[in-house]
Amino acid sequence: MTTQEFVPGLAGVPAAESAISYIDGAAGILEYRGYRIETLSEKSNFEEVAWLLLKGKLPTRAELEQFRTELRARRDLAAPLLTLMRALPREGHPMNALQASLAGLGMVSPKVDYRDADSSWEAILRLLAITPVLVATFERLRRGDDYLAPDPELNTAANFLWMLNGERPKPIAERTLDCALLLHAEHTMNASTFAARVVASTEADPYTMCSSAVGALFGPLHGGANERVLQALESIGGKQNVDAWFAKKRASKGKIMGFGHRVYKTKDPRAITLQRLVRELFGELGTTPIYDTALALEKAVVGALGDKGIYPNVDFFSGIVYQKLGIPTDVFTPIFAMARVTGWLTHWQDQMKHNRIFRPGQIYIGKHDQPWVPIEERG
Ligand code: ACO
Repeated sequence: MTTQEFVPGLAGVPAAESAISYIDGAAGILEYRGYRIETLSEKSNFEEVAWLLLKGKLPTRAELEQFRTELRARRDLAAPLLTLMRALPREGHPMNALQASLAGLGMVSPKVDYRDADSSWEAILRLLAITPVLVATFERLRRGDDYLAPDPELNTAANFLWMLNGERPKPIAERTLDCALLLHAEHTMNASTFAARVVASTEADPYTMCSSAVGALFGPLHGGANERVLQALESIGGKQNVDAWFAKKRASKGKIMGFGHRVYKTKDPRAITLQRLVRELFGELGTTPIYDTALALEKAVVGALGDKGIYPNVDFFSGIVYQKLGIPTDVFTPIFAMARVTGWLTHWQDQMKHNRIFRPGQIYIGKHDQPWVPIEERG
């Protein structure tokens, strides 16, 4: 098939058939494998949802226990990988560190035939188990602490907080991060998932694929928006300054980070759940003044741009949650990545089932049959 119509950003152009997740952007609905995100965030947890996404059905108790045991058995970092991480520049961004260490993880992983189901499942387990460890370990190393061994009694969220802080998290902190990971696990054909699928389609290994997808997620129009939202909220300096800040931003035609979405034309359902998490956290740990700034900004932006479908997206409230958990701002996007690895790997499985290398077309708008001009005659 040849299509001659150029669609910027491939907006609305299907890149795959998929039964993994579903969005109704007008109604604000997100489903993983047919389950509403609100139901999953109320009744489930990140590890169970990871199984649901990867296997296409909810696990039995025995399957979930085995999955958890398998993840916990794979968290330790191999010595050469730790050496590589110790050598990374501490002043670099944690997303670049994650890209480099995921590539490093691939370098220390067995070279196998991924068409073999056991080998591909083993790689999936390794990536799910180790990605949060890479994020926590870089954070420890760059602030001058040493590697802290994972705690095999803890789930993914709790172990991440343990490795970051060296103490077992409060139940509210564990619950909140777990739910945030669940909300970020998968989201149809977004930029990083598309990037993952393109890399997967070349039959590159899943470590290379995840490292590439981290690069796509890093940009401020995608996952990188969450740290910029917090920077903006802090720079506004209080809810009384919101209207003036917003007016200036509009006059310069600047985008407001944490607002707008290619698919949602109403408030992102994940933002609604994150807002509930914010309220629960504040109930136990005390409020944060920038939340009032965020509410005032939401009111101003939706009041002015709501009829264009500009509403808060997932990145708008996540930073407020992570900040309350004591997580540094530039670790927000790596947390997004350690959740989204689930979606990338689920799409990898699908891509590999019916793989055809991605090779889209282009509409050539350049010249033809140019006469050759010797270098000494060029003006
Ligand atoms: N602030 C102000 N105006 C906006 C915003 C925003 N955040 N987002 C979109 N608009 C406006 C655009 O200026 C444009 O207006 P125009 O038609 O008058 O020119 C219109 O809405 C359409 O915007 P596009 O950028 O063309 O929409 P697109 O679907 O290509 O982009 C995107 C979606 C990238 C998410 C965009 O809304 C954006 O840049 N948002 C800010 C960054 C952000 O929060 N990213 C996180 C998204 S969620 C995620 O990836 C996890």
